[in-house]
Parts: sequence; C-alpha cells; structure tokens
Amino acid sequence: MSCTIIVGGFFGDEGKGKIVAHIAHQDHPTVISRGGVGPNAGHTVLVGKKEYGVRMVPSGFVYPKADLCIGPGVLVDPRVFLREVAEVEVSGRIFIDGRCGVIEEEHIARDKGSEHLAKTIGSTGSGCGPANSDRVLRVARQAKDLPELAPYIIDVAEKVNQAIDNGEPVLLEGTQGFGISLYYGTYPFVTSKDTSASQIAADNGVGPTKIDDVIVVFKAFPTRVGEGPFSTEMSLDKSHALGIQEFGTVTHRERRIGTWDGKMARYSAMINGCTQVAITGIDRVDPTCFGATSYDQLSQTAKDFIRQVEVDVGQPVTIISTGPELSQIIDLRKKR
Ligand code: IMP
Ligand code: MG
Repeated sequence: MSCTIIVGGFFGDEGKGKIVAHIAHQDHPTVISRGGVGPNAGHTVLVGKKEYGVRMVPSGFVYPKADLCIGPGVLVDPRVFLREVAEVEVSGRIFIDGRCGVIEEEHIARDKGSEHLAKTIGSTGSGCGPANSDRVLRVARQAKDLPELAPYIIDVAEKVNQAIDNGEPVLLEGTQGFGISLYYGTYPFVTSKDTSASQIAADNGVGPTKIDDVIVVFKAFPTRVGEGPFSTEMSLDKSHALGIQEFGTVTHRERRIGTWDGKMARYSAMINGCTQVAITGIDRVDPTCFGATSYDQLSQTAKDFIRQVEVDVGQPVTIISTGPELSQIIDLRKKR
C-alpha cells in the first residue's frame, strides 16, 4: 500500500485525469487528493459516452469508492466548485481543506483585465494569478471563511496522512505541467505556482518521506496553451495534416502541438523525482495502436518510441494510453 503522486511532465493536458482514473480503478485508493494551482486546470474525463470537464473536483471522481479532497495549497473558486458538485456524483465524499485560498470575482476581473496576464502570458482568466498574489500578501480569504463551503470543510492534510499511516493506498493528483511551473518552467510564461511533485505533496500536507511513487505523465506529442517558448513546436498546418487538433478544457483555445522532447522529459523527470512514466497518445505515433490493451499488440514503431522514452527519461514506462476511453490502456506495472 502506498502514496503515489501523478504529475504532468510537459506543459499540462498530458492526460493525467485518465491515468488517475485508471490507477484508481486498479489500486482502490481510499483517498484521492488534489494539489496544483486551482480552477485554471481542466480535466476532461470520459465516462461511458458522457464527457465531463472538471476544474475543481479531482479527476479521480470517476472511481466511486474514494473520498475526494482538495488540499490546502489549492485555490478554490466556490462558484466553480459548487456547480461541479451539483453535476458529478460526489456528494458526501468530497472535502476541501479550510486553509485553501479563495478566488473572488474580483480576482477573475483582474486576471482578464490585465494586459500582462491576459495577453502577454495568455493566462486562463480564472483568477488564479491574482488570488495567489493576494494569498502571498496575506489578504485573501480562506475556504473556512465562506458559509456556503462549510459542509465540505475538513483538515485534508490530517485525513490524507491518516490514510497513509493506516497503510491505505492514496493518490495525490497534480495539475498543470512541469513546463509551466513558476520555479522550473519557461518564466515568465508560467502559472502562479510550482507544479512539480514536491509541490503537489506540499499542497496536501504530505512530507517527502511518505511518497512511494511519482508517476510522470508525458504526451507522445506534447501540447501547450497560452504564450511562451515551445522548442519542439510544429506549425498548426503540420499538426492538422497529422490529424492532431486539440482545444483547451477551460478556455477552448486551440492547443499548440509539438514533437517528443527527450531533453525536457529527462529534466522534468529529474525535478519530479520520477519513478515511473505514463505515456499518452501512443496512437498518434502509430494509429494501428489505437485501443490496444496489451504490449504485444503494439507495432514495432510504437515499441521503438517507448524504448526511446525510457532511454531519454531513465525510468521505466509502465502505463501506455492508447485512446480516450478508460479501457484503452496498457498497464505494465505488475509485470515489472
Ligand atoms: P494561469 O495559470 O491561468 O495564470 O495561466 C498561465 C499559463 O499557464 C497560461 O499559458 C495557461 O494557458 C497555462 N495553464 C494554466 N493552467 C493550465 C492547465 O491546467 N493546462 C495547461 N495550461 C495551463
Ligand atoms: Mg487540462
């Protein structure tokens, strides 16, 4: 039984949500707790035929047996949170730490109204930057100050640590991606907080000695939304010709597409303390791999790609996503 962190290795939108959902169904965590910035994150989760875009509820919600938490480091937008709680099946098992910083309407207005944030950086306009800045200035409200959040407030750090100490499996869900970390990303074209595994642990009040595994999720073809450097970016014409086109969950902006960046993957894995790699979008490397559920079904092209990832990163690829549905996945964790 263990505590596992799942983080994005490139610029976000690597498909962490699906990896979390898969691992949850396999490993039966009692608690899935979210770290990361706040509602600037968007996880698209496909459950059967229905698609959900969650921004506050942990993407592990599709696994019905886990309690879901939002760690104290995360910003909460009460409007977004309450809307999602009404939409998805989480009542009675979702909790917010009372210390979470609160996003006010005014933060959203400041985010959208700032030339620097909205235009130069290309922020999501969700108020996260201004809210984190108010938190650092110690003028932000906390979740425990809002009566409408009272039914959800607990000490998340206490709950998560208790589960770990009881030997129960726990998942800590990261958001965003390494390349937009405030500390390690392409500053100033970054989000308003670190996004690495250590931050996700800190966001939940879990000390480094209690983390057993860090799964870094990489997209075969990385993407980036918003402004900033992207060394392996290709033209949109080229990505469209390859049949790749994506839009952001939060802002619906078209995502910029690039090719595999081994150098970035290696650096990202180092800072994240990666122990295992998950690869998403292998069907874009070779469309014949779409929907594969075992390693043997992969083509030589796909196997060569995975081997290259392992050489670049220096850690084993243990999970390979082969399509959008939960069942379209290869899990090599038990065999290794
Ligand atoms: P902010 O986090 O809204 O301030 O946006 C700052 C930068 O981070 C912009 O380039 C956003 O597009 C990017 N960003 C923030 N959150 C995410 C995410 O969850 N996925 C991908 N990009 C993100
Ligand atoms: Mg996303």
